[in-house]
Amino acid sequence: MERPTWAPGEVDLERPSAARVYDYYLGGYHNLAVDREFAEQAMQAMPELPLIMRTNRAFLRRSVRYLVGRGIRQFLDLGSGIPTVGNVHEIAQAAAPECRVVYVDKDPVAVAHSQVMLEGNQNASVLLADMRDHESVLASDAVTGLLDLSQPVAVLMFAVLHFVDDDSHVEQTVRGYLGAVASGSYLVVSHGTHEHVGERGKQVERLYTRADNPLHPRNRAQVAGLAEGLELVEPGVVYLPSWHPDSPEEVEDHPERSSTYALVAFKP
Ligand SMILES: C[S@@+](CC[C@H](N)C(=O)[O-])C[C@H]1O[C@@H](n2cnc3c(N)ncnc32)[C@H](O)[C@@H]1O
Repeated sequence: MERPTWAPGEVDLERPSAARVYDYYLGGYHNLAVDREFAEQAMQAMPELPLIMRTNRAFLRRSVRYLVGRGIRQFLDLGSGIPTVGNVHEIAQAAAPECRVVYVDKDPVAVAHSQVMLEGNQNASVLLADMRDHESVLASDAVTGLLDLSQPVAVLMFAVLHFVDDDSHVEQTVRGYLGAVASGSYLVVSHGTHEHVGERGKQVERLYTRADNPLHPRNRAQVAGLAEGLELVEPGVVYLPSWHPDSPEEVEDHPERSSTYALVAFKP
C-alpha cells in the first residue's frame, strides 16, 4: 500500500489505529483503507458508533467551556487524538485567549497533525508520548514550558482510559496526574461502557483486539472510582448527553445509547 504524505514513516499501514478509526467515525480524512474497513465492521455491530463519537466531542466542548467559566486557564489533554472540529485550544482560547493547552498522544498521525494545526500558537503545544507514563509527560519540555503546575490545571481524559487494559494502570495514571496538580484543578473523563449493549458490545471488543489499542469498557462503579478523593461536579457520573446539556431538548430519551460515561471532578 502506498504511504499517504500525511502518514509518518513509523505508521503501520496494515494495522487499524484507534486514532484513525475515530477520525473516520467523525467524518475526517486522516484514515487508511484498513481503518475504514475496520470501522465499517464495528458499525455493523454498533451502527450508533459515529453518533457516540460526536456526542463525545460535544461533551468535550461543553466541559471545556464549563471549566473556562470556573476560571481554569490551563489544560492537559491526554490521548487528544487527530485534530477535528472544535479542539480544546479552540474552545478554550475562544472563551479566554490566554488559555494554555498541551496535547499528548502516542499516535504519530495525531501528533503530526496537531503540530501543523498549532503552528504559530504560542499558547498550545503537542507531545508524542504514552500518557500512562505521567512522570515523563509532566517533566517534558512541552508541559513545563507551557503549564504552571502550581496553578490549577484541567486534566482531560476524553475517550482514552478505555484503551488502558489494566484497572490498576488506569488508577495509577489518574492518581499520577491528579497528585501532581494544584488544588483547584479538575479531572474530566469520558469512558466507554458496554453495560447496555450486551453482545453487540462484545463483538466490538473482540474486533478491537486487532487494533493498535484494544478496547476495555468499564461499568459505572469503575468509572466513578476514578474520581475517588475528588469532589464530583453535579450531576456526577452520567451518560454523555446528560452532563450539562446546552438545552433540555439536547438530552435524548435514551442517553445510555451513548455507551459512554462522563464525569468532571474537582481537586479540593
Ligand atoms: C478515541 S480517541 C479520542 C480522542 C480525543 N480525546 C477525543 O475524545 O475526541 C483515543 C486517542 O487516545 C490515544 N491513546 C490511546 N492510548 C494512549 C496512551 N497510552 N497514551 C497516549 N495516547 C493514547 C489514541 O492514539 C487516540 O488518539
